[in-house]
Amino acid sequence: MLKTKVLECLKGTKNYISGQEICEKFGVSRTAIWKVINQLKEEGYEIESSTNKGYRISSYSDVWSKSEIESTLSKSNLINKVIYLDETDSTNIRAKILGEEGEISGTLVVADSQFNGRGRRAKGFESPKGKSIYMTLLIRPDLSPTKASMITILTAMSVMKGLEESCGLQSQIKWPNDVIYDNKKLCGILVEMSTERDYINYVVVGIGININNTDMPEDLKDIATSVKMITSKDYKRSDIILSVLNAFEAYYNEFMKIGDLSFIKDEYNKYLVHYDKTVIIMRGQDKIEAISKGIDDDGELRIEKDGKT
Ligand code: BTN
Repeated sequence: MLKTKVLECLKGTKNYISGQEICEKFGVSRTAIWKVINQLKEEGYEIESSTNKGYRISSYSDVWSKSEIESTLSKSNLINKVIYLDETDSTNIRAKILGEEGEISGTLVVADSQFNGRGRRAKGFESPKGKSIYMTLLIRPDLSPTKASMITILTAMSVMKGLEESCGLQSQIKWPNDVIYDNKKLCGILVEMSTERDYINYVVVGIGININNTDMPEDLKDIATSVKMITSKDYKRSDIILSVLNAFEAYYNEFMKIGDLSFIKDEYNKYLVHYDKTVIIMRGQDKIEAISKGIDDDGELRIEKDGKT
């Protein structure tokens, strides 16, 4: 898509790029470039144009569009395709449909809002427009279905690392699938899979991160927060996506090589909010009180009860 290519080209330098150079690079007319530049300005990019020197992006804030996400993720080896939706029911639902239709591994579905955002245990996930990240990665790992739950662990680590790198925020992990700050939820993860006999057909990795929200609905005030509510700053959501997915790519590749979580276990346990603390484990109808001892190589929570692990 020409818009994504021009954007990538402009984002690649702080200098002006001449209109002629862009035309030659992509084999299109000056009018085509001029149209694309105007579309980008409408999306929110500040683009300076000078008759002699050409075009230059001077600044932009949190632009959220297919071109912005594609151009930001163009260097990611993990992402092969971006599907951007202004509004959708749930990016997990969309990704599962694509999975059934045979879409390629490495497809990322991103939305600006969801009206049926889904969480674990049939809960919903509040997904207001223009503020947060709602994305689902479709992958087709050559893995036993018994190991798919380990992807949740990798994802939580990737979000924690991504927020550290792109926002300078030190969050924590609540096993297995929440990234939290000050005991309030910043991110929820929903990993779902489709299997055929004893192999995985596809896995969808759904990630919802509260980024630029200035407040939370009344019923979530005590249990959820956003990066902006913690740091009082605004963030470019596309930069955060890149950091999270880069971290995921590194962890995922290692995991696929090794086949378990032994390489990440100690690091994960360092960020576990309830490490060495009392937790209540639900086993069917039973509630078990025990001490959390962090995850094992398979991502299961080890607990200590009556002196036994
Ligand atoms: C949870 O907290 O229980 C998990 C929440 C997962 C929310 C994300 S938002 C993107 C993706 N689409 C969904 O419908 N859910 C996940």
